[in-house]
Amino acid sequence: MASPEPIDGILDIAPYVGGDSKADGVARAVKLSSNESAIGPSPRAVDAYRALAGELHRYPDGGFNALRETIAEIHGLAPERLICGNGSDEIISYLTHAYAGPGDEVLFSAHGFLMYPLSAMAAGARPVKAPETDYRASVDALLDAVTDATRIVFLANPNNPTGTYLPADEVARLRAGLPGRVLLVLDGAYAEYVSRNDYSAGIELVDAGDNVVMTRTFSKIYGLAALRLGWAYCPRAIADVYHRVRPPFNVNAAAQVAGVAAMRDVAHTDAARTHNDIWQPWLTAEMSRLGLFVIPSVGNFITVRFGADGPRAAAEALAFLKRRGVLARGIAPYGLADCVRFTIGLEDENRAVVDAVTAFLSGADV
Ligand SMILES: Cc1ncc(COP(=O)(O)O)c(C=O)c1O
Repeated sequence: MASPEPIDGILDIAPYVGGDSKADGVARAVKLSSNESAIGPSPRAVDAYRALAGELHRYPDGGFNALRETIAEIHGLAPERLICGNGSDEIISYLTHAYAGPGDEVLFSAHGFLMYPLSAMAAGARPVKAPETDYRASVDALLDAVTDATRIVFLANPNNPTGTYLPADEVARLRAGLPGRVLLVLDGAYAEYVSRNDYSAGIELVDAGDNVVMTRTFSKIYGLAALRLGWAYCPRAIADVYHRVRPPFNVNAAAQVAGVAAMRDVAHTDAARTHNDIWQPWLTAEMSRLGLFVIPSVGNFITVRFGADGPRAAAEALAFLKRRGVLARGIAPYGLADCVRFTIGLEDENRAVVDAVTAFLSGADV
């Protein structure tokens, strides 16, 4: 008997595999595999989450109005141009479905975030990669790869897993070189960590025309990954399209109240940034001291090159670290099989990483 078949391309999708969260035989692993916040969420966000417990029988606000108004106030944006999603992954996914389909191309840089090809393929569109230069997106290569079939260009800025970023003038050059019919999505999942004068998450580019969207998340600096909450600033017409395709209650009530409290706790966000400003350069320097190449990162993570084969290869390092209870991220699916990505953790976690990598490089047995 015939059975239902998904559309072309769906069975070619390799399902997304999240970072490891358990190591056999280790009671409490050092989990540095998913770029979560080292210091966790604001206590005010946790209180807001707890306070919702008596309201679990109520549907959430389908328009996420208080959340949109808070984001609008803090960032100085028009609330009607803000959209929210069940993680920024959901926004990426629905925008891709709405703007690309079979016969279309979705473009991103060679080591770009994995959700871009996954969303493209789920929509039946063709994912296209543009080469990078020194692990950084290349505006020239992206523009060269644009064809009549290109519908969306995704740029994670900073990018995961490389941690590199493009300065604002380069992103503006990318936008200026794209036809107006191409949607440019600037994914600022790590924007809050970046303190470089030449960096911008892209709000001014969204304002400058009709084809740029900036996505953000509460999963990283706000420490609310479990609640799944993302937002985006869009042209009005794109916000309108999003509201047509998203499910009516896609952002749960706990995420909405915790998101409001987290964004209002500016001191906590500052503390998370300060922590990263201390420990990210420290971990980078320690890895360099051990003779390893570290891709220059502006995020809350670093990607370190071990090698593709032999006893010091990235896969060996990952397995060794895991046996010691240190969970890092293998990034072979990003075309970086020779590298390992480490999220910046608390001081003892960062020190545990350096101890474990030192032991690995010295050929110690676990
Ligand atoms: C570049 C980038 N964009 C988007 C996301 C998705 O974040 P969210 O938890 O909001 O779905 C991630 C998560 O790792 C990311 O690294």
